[in-house]
Amino acid sequence: MALLTHGGQLAQIAKQFGIEQSQWLDLSTGIAPYHYPVGHVPISAYQQLPQVNDELINAAASYYGHDVLAITNGSQAVIKLLPNLWREKSSRSTNVYLPKHGYKEHQQAWQQAQFTICLYDDELPPLAVFDDHCVLVIINPNNPTTKLFTQQEILIYQQHIASLNGLLVVDEAFMDVITPSQSMISSIDDSNTIILRSFGKFFGLAGIRIGFVLANNHWIAMLADSLGPWQVNGPAQYIAAQALSDKAWHSEQRKQLTQDRQALVEMLQSTLNKNEHHSIVHTDLFITIYFNQPQRAPQLFDTLCQHGIYVRLCDDQQSLRFGIATAKQRSLLACVLRLTNLID
Ligand SMILES: Cc1ncc(COP(=O)(O)O)c(C=O)c1O
Repeated sequence: MALLTHGGQLAQIAKQFGIEQSQWLDLSTGIAPYHYPVGHVPISAYQQLPQVNDELINAAASYYGHDVLAITNGSQAVIKLLPNLWREKSSRSTNVYLPKHGYKEHQQAWQQAQFTICLYDDELPPLAVFDDHCVLVIINPNNPTTKLFTQQEILIYQQHIASLNGLLVVDEAFMDVITPSQSMISSIDDSNTIILRSFGKFFGLAGIRIGFVLANNHWIAMLADSLGPWQVNGPAQYIAAQALSDKAWHSEQRKQLTQDRQALVEMLQSTLNKNEHHSIVHTDLFITIYFNQPQRAPQLFDTLCQHGIYVRLCDDQQSLRFGIATAKQRSLLACVLRLTNLID
C-alpha cells in the first residue's frame, strides 16, 4: 500500500518548489513550536541498552494518571500493530468504525489487515449499528477537524462496545491541550479499551519517538510481548522522564500555546480575503481553515509554498491546517498572506 501524505514532509516539498529546506517556515504539523528544553543527557543513556526505568514509569503514571502503561516509540508503531493483535484475540471480528476525516494511518492499518472499513462522519455512528466483536476508533480531539467528544459521550460507546466484546481505541494524540480534559484514561476498565498518547506534539519533540499506551493489565502485557525489548532508545526515555515531571513547564507551555493560537486565529481572520467564505476551527496545537470555494485550499497551499511557507493541505482538498506559529513566524505568515491577497 502507498505511503500516506502527512504534514512534516518538508524535504519533498522543498524539492518540489525548488526552495532550499532551511529557508522554509514549516507550519505543516501539529507539533508545538516550543520544545521541552533538552538539557544534559547522561552518556549512560546512550551507552546502555535501554531498560524501561522506574523513573520514567512513575513520571508517566503521574502525568497520565494511570500506572498500567506501555512505553512505545510513538503511537504510530502501535497503530500498525493493533489490527493483528486484535485478530489474534478475536478472530471473528470484521467491522471497524473509523472517522472519515482524521489521521489516515488508522484506516490504512485496519485495511491492510483485511478488516471491513466503515467510516463515520463528524458524529459517532448510532449504537445500533455495532455488531459483535466490532472495533471503534475515535481520534479525540480529531486531527484535522478538531471534533471533540466528551468523556460522557464516549463512556456510552465504551459500555456498548464492551457488551459486544468489541475493541475501543481512543487516539488522544492532542489531548494534552484540552481543558478540562476529556481523556478516557480515568475510565479504563476490564474491557478492551486502548488509549494512545503521543509525546512529541505537546512537548515539541516529535523526533525522539516516544509515546504511551494506557490500557488494562492484559493489553499492556500483550503489547509488551509483541513489541519485545529495547523499543525506545535511552536518550528518549531520559528526556521524557524529565519532561513529564516538569509541571511548571507544562502550565507555561499551555499558556503560551493558547496565547499564540488566539493571536494566529485573529491574524488569519483579519488577513484572509474578506470575499472568500471560510470557517476556522482550532485546538491549541493546530488550526484548520475550511474554504467554501472549491480549489481555494489547493490554490492557497500552492501560493504559500511558492513563498516558502508549508502548511498542510488536508485530504479533503477543501481545508488547510496550520500549526501554531510563534510571534515571529506569525508576522512572516501575515506578510505573505497580505501579499497574496493583493495578487490573487
Ligand atoms: C491523531 C494522530 N495520532 C497519532 C499520530 C502519530 O504520532 P506519534 O507516532 O508521533 O505518537 C499522529 C501524528 O501526526 C496523529 O496526528
